[in-house]
Formats: sequence, structure tokens, C-alpha cells
Amino acid sequence: MTRPRKLFVTTALPYANGKFHIGHIMEYIQADIWVRFQRMQGHEVNFVCADDAHGAPIMIAAEKAGLTPQQFVAGIAAGRPQYLNGFHIAFDNWHSTDAPENHALAQQIYRDLKANGLIASKTIAQFFDPEKGMFLPDRYVLGQCPKCHTPDQYGDNCEACGAVYAPTDLIAPRSALSGATPVLKNAEHFFFRLSDPRCVAFLESWTQDGRLQPEVANKVKEWFSVRTNPDGSTSEGLGDWDISRDAPYFGIEIPDAPGKYFYVWLDAPVGYLAALKNLLDKRSAQAQGESISFADYMAQPALEQYHFIGKDIVTFHTLFWPAMLHFSGRKVPDKIFVHGFLTVKEEKMSKSRGTGLDPLKYLALGMNPEWLRYYLATKLSGKNEDIDFNPSDFMARVNSDLVGKYINIASRAAGFLSKRFAGQLTHVKPEGGAALMHVLHAAALPLAQCYEDREYGKAMREIMVLADRVNAYVDANKPWELAKNPLHEQQLHQVCSLLINAFAVLTRYLAPVLPQLAQAVQGFTGQRMTHWQDRQDVQSIAPYEHLMQRVDEAQLLALFEPAAEAAKAAQTPDAIENSASQLPGGEAIAPTISIDDFAKIDLRIAKIVNCEAVEGSTKLLRLTLDVGESDAHGRLLTRNVFSGIASAYTPEDLIGQLTVMVANLAPRKMKFGLSEGMVLAASHADDKAQPGIYILKPWPGAQPGMRIH
Ligand code: 2FM
Ligand code: ZN
Repeated sequence: MTRPRKLFVTTALPYANGKFHIGHIMEYIQADIWVRFQRMQGHEVNFVCADDAHGAPIMIAAEKAGLTPQQFVAGIAAGRPQYLNGFHIAFDNWHSTDAPENHALAQQIYRDLKANGLIASKTIAQFFDPEKGMFLPDRYVLGQCPKCHTPDQYGDNCEACGAVYAPTDLIAPRSALSGATPVLKNAEHFFFRLSDPRCVAFLESWTQDGRLQPEVANKVKEWFSVRTNPDGSTSEGLGDWDISRDAPYFGIEIPDAPGKYFYVWLDAPVGYLAALKNLLDKRSAQAQGESISFADYMAQPALEQYHFIGKDIVTFHTLFWPAMLHFSGRKVPDKIFVHGFLTVKEEKMSKSRGTGLDPLKYLALGMNPEWLRYYLATKLSGKNEDIDFNPSDFMARVNSDLVGKYINIASRAAGFLSKRFAGQLTHVKPEGGAALMHVLHAAALPLAQCYEDREYGKAMREIMVLADRVNAYVDANKPWELAKNPLHEQQLHQVCSLLINAFAVLTRYLAPVLPQLAQAVQGFTGQRMTHWQDRQDVQSIAPYEHLMQRVDEAQLLALFEPAAEAAKAAQTPDAIENSASQLPGGEAIAPTISIDDFAKIDLRIAKIVNCEAVEGSTKLLRLTLDVGESDAHGRLLTRNVFSGIASAYTPEDLIGQLTVMVANLAPRKMKFGLSEGMVLAASHADDKAQPGIYILKPWPGAQPGMRIH
């Protein structure tokens, strides 16, 4: 075999101010398929990502949430694994651009650029919010469009007429943060001198030397030329890039410039390197396998570096990022893989909100993540083009192709082999279809090329053509007919053995897209599905268990239903069956909260000093609780709490017991009196189908008033 390639692969780092939407998931799946494919070829891959933690929007969102930016970002980071694990997206490391490695690397890159004469400083006038005491990013200035006079437009462009302008051009500008009228204020800014002839020459060559997709290279070319645009405005070639922001700003401090921070887009891509360094350092610390330092790893001449990104951030990755790397004496990316946007039912994606397809809801409904991986694979190509998620197309691709053509091959053969041949396979003789096996094996090379080129749609189509050929073989040989005649026993054995071998080959071809299924097939056939080149015959099979369900239309309907309706649909018997593990206790786990959110809830051990029925209510019990509170004279103060647990407990059950209560819940006036807190109890979401209420009881030793942390 040729020497293993060494690949460093990233996806774009998502802003740490929101949940993932389906667009993020699509990019990660695209990259994850590529990485899994490369590993199947025996190549060594480090695949990393990180939260893009800095910038004004995150600082402002944290402030609104009453958190420090670090706490805010930590809360977002805690929510990432459920998406990544849920869709089998296997990054080797997930880091943060606020991590120490990134601070150090970004500052060093800046110092190197400065030493190379590529940092300039200029004083510029900018809008400043006198109430908030901060300079306003363009998106935080609102006003009337200077061209069409539409009110409430952002400071960079008008959504009504498309005009592009500076915030200072707006009529009656105001701060989106405080509503105050901004004032112009001077500040010194640092610029990366992209207009320097060295940068221009380097980028003109780097962007046109074949490493970018042709359609991307063509677009980038336009940015170098001085010209008049169709709308009459002029483009002036590469301009210098403003890389500094003034305090208050959540970012990385600029060396030797107190109160100045790097603009988030300077340190964001550096996060690729920081995430890799953190991974390699962790490996070295754990002495896992061969360890290598970050510096040595990056210095390997054969190292290949690839970034998967969306088409909206091409400038940063084809101009600023390679120039930063090159002129600070670092390795530049080998390729930037640009993909288009994902629309859902032709609906455009909003960067912050995503679309109507919520990835967590998809999982909570018990929908198989590999359906989505497969469907996206059928749509993706190596081109920078938009793709659409179409529900009926999704159902057809999964049910007719994936299950109908591919999975069925195994289910058609496995029963006969298990029942008639104790699961043992026989060697396939030439007349038994060896030619067909030859065709299947011969596809390994062209299919590998499709994966390498990210032409997944083409690969999926070709795999389905192969599956068609296998199914045609089934129809021609009719194992169900052979099974009726004992004289055809051997032929039946041949046909079914071939089918399982064919299925194993197809599974290997699909393994980058369907890793979990491939693992199940590995268990079923005893053949490893992790090596592209493997060609051993399957010797025997384990009893067949269904490998993949079909998409149920009700699931798709529920996926696109408004929230309240979906909760009901999730309770249909089929959905419960399919999604039991995703809906513990009958409901999906609630959105992630930060530790600080949790700390707001004051949970205490409470002693039930009295309990009585409530006249006029069959549901409620009145509890008198001791949570360790007393007045100035040391007299016990109790709380009165109404609790809907009368169906499960009598007062006698409870008096004298310890339980848990929310002690800082706002008192609530009820028909029967004031309720001063709440006791905790467990129940199934569907209390009609699965009745039962269980109040909590601490282990012996807990005392009234103790806080639960
Ligand atoms: O556009 C975005 O979502 C950015 N957070 C992407 C950053 S990619 C890299 F440069 F960090
Ligand atoms: Zn306008």
C-alpha cells in the first residue's frame, strides 16, 4: 500500500451564541463522511472543531443572560455533544477559541505579521454608544436607509433595497443596544496590510493555482481587480483589513496595545490550530499511541490541511487566513472545500435561526440519524451549490433506495442461510455469480475517487446501480423458488451466499455514510467494515436482526409540525416504539442550561411536619414543611405548600418524612390558600397511559434546610 497520508481536517467553527441548526449538521456530516472515508483508506486524520467564542454579539448575549461571556459560552458548549453524538459526527477534539492555546497562537501570529511589516495603525472615526460606553459594530446601528428611506435598517446594508453603505450614512441613526443616538469618536485601529504588494502577489497565485473549486476561484478573482460594478460602485482591489476592536470586547488582547482586542475573525481560524494543538498535547500527556508535538506535526512536509466551510465565509478563508499563515511563516491550507446552503422545502436558512428542520427534534422523534446522513450524501457534490431537503424525496430515497434496494438484499438471503444452512456460507463458484462479485469489487476504485472528490451524490447513485444488479440477480435466481425443491439445495446455498457477500461489499462502500449500520453488519457477517480494500468472503452469519426501519410519514409530519402538535404526535404508539430511547419518561430532555442557570434554583431538604387532605380537591394535599427556617427568636417557621399528589399518597404516608422542595419559587396564590414552594415528584409525561407519581426522598442523614447542589 502507498504511505498513509497525513490529513488535518476542520469544519468552520460555529459561533457560541446559539444551538446548531441543520446547516451546521450538514457541514459536519459532509466532513465526517470524508474523514471516515480517508481512515478506511488507511490514512491518518486529525479532525477538529471548536466553539467560535469571541465577538460583540456573544458579549452582548451573555450580558443579557446575566452571565459572564465565559459562562455563557460554556453553557453553549455543553449542548454540543447531543447533536454530534446524535448524528455520529466524530470529531477528534472539540475546543474553544477562548482557550489559552488560541490566545497564545493568535498573539504569536500577530507578532510575526508585525515583524514582517504587515501591521499598520490608523485613527478612524466610528459610532460610539454614549450610554453603553462602547463602539458599535455596524449591525448594532439602526436607522433609515439613505437610499430608499426604509426605517430600521442595519448599519451595513438595507434589506429593502439592497444598498450597501457605512453606518454613518444612515438617517437618524440609533444604537440597537440602548436606543441612544450614537456619536462619532476617534480610535486607533490596527490593520493587516493586505494591500501590500507581497500579499496581493501571494494571494493572486494561491487562489488561482488549482486548490480552490473553479467556481470559487473565479469569484475570488474578482476581488483583486479594480473595476466598476454593475450598480455603479467601484471595487478597489484588496483593501487593508481592520483587525482590532476597542474594549469592552470579548476577545484576545492585542500585544502591547492596552484596551485593544483582536476582531473575532482574526482569532477564529487560529482556533483550528489551537484545537489541533490541544488534541496533540492531550495525546502526549496521556501518551496514547505515538505522540507528536504540535510544532513537529505541522512541520511535516507531507501534512495536508483542509477546511470545510460554507460559501458565506469564503473571503476569510481564501484571503485573510492564508495570508495570515503565509506571512507569519506557517503552513497554508491545501484546499478549502466550499459548500452551498441547505434550504428546507426551498425555505432559505437564517444564519441564527436555521430552518424549520430542528436537528434535536429529528432525533427526539426517533428518526434514524443515518437516514439524514444518507439523504444528504445523495444530494452533496464537490461543487459549491445549494441543496434542498425535500421531505417526500427524503422518504423516497431512504425507503425505496436505502431500505428497498440495499437492506433488502440481506433480509432476502439471511433467513434461508440461518434456517437451512445453520448460518454457514459456501464459496461462490463462477457459475454461481462470481462475475457479479467481480463487478462489485471493480467499483472500489471509482467509488473511492467519488468520495475523495466529495462527489457523494454520484457515489450513492453508483452504489444503488450496483444494488439494482444484485436485486436483478435475486429476481433471476428466485431463492424462494429454489427453497421449495430439495434438489436445488446447493444452488440456494450458492445464491444466498453470494447475496450476503454482495451485501458486505455494498456495506463497505456505504460505511463512511452509515457508520452505525456498518458496525451492525460487521457483527452480522464477522467481516470488518473499516477497511476499504478488504475482500475476504463472509464465512458465516449471525441470526439476522432487522438493520434499518423505513421512514414513517407520521414522523416527517411531526418533524415539521409546530411545537405543540409535535408533542402529541410523538406519543403515537409507533413513535413511542421507535423513539423510546430518545424520549426518556415520555419527553425529550429539555434544552441545555448552564450551571449558573441551575444555581438559580434553590433546592432544599424539607421535613413534612404535617399533611392533610384539602377540602374541595381530590388532587391536592396540603403540606406543612420545615426547611430549617426560624424567626429572630429561634422559633420554627414552616411553609405551606399545595401538591397534586393525593392520588398517590395519604397524609399518613407522608407525615414525618423528608423530601425535596424548591425553596425560592415565587409564592403562588391558589384557590385554597398561598403555596410557598413546590415539592419534587417524578412522573411519566403521559400520566394517563403511564400513571404514577413518586415524590423524592433523601438518603438517611440529610437534615431539613440542607441545600441540594
Ligand atoms: O460564520 C461563522 O459561523 C463563523 N463562526 C465561522 C468561523 S470559521 C473559523 F474561521 F473559525
Ligand atoms: Zn434601502
